[in-house]
Amino acid sequence: MSSHVDVAATTDLAEGGLLGATLPDGTVVCLYNRDGEIGAVGGQCTHAEFAMADGTLHGDGTIECAWHGARFDCRTGVVRRPPAIDPLAVYSVRVEGGRVLVGPRLGGAMGRSA
Ligand code: FES
Repeated sequence: MSSHVDVAATTDLAEGGLLGATLPDGTVVCLYNRDGEIGAVGGQCTHAEFAMADGTLHGDGTIECAWHGARFDCRTGVVRRPPAIDPLAVYSVRVEGGRVLVGPRLGGAMGRSA
């Protein structure tokens, strides 16, 4: 039994790329491919809810929001550059048979600022 859901093909996610996806419960996530490592963070910036998938994945492993330039660590979700204050959620991801499967949110309290 798996709580992971199939959201995309790995071929939809180029190296260095970002891709938005919606889980069955309506949660929006942002998939990333950092040098072949695929993961998922919350799909909306914690600053003003801009779509993270419209941002940029940098070589240092941060995802930059396209609106006001906040940066988040793609593995932990923690803020690396303001104006965002709160971290992005991070989700469990599995890659199987060329598909990207997203599961539960990880590390509930990690990086919480309040
Ligand atoms: S909405 Fe992302 S930095 Fe403002």
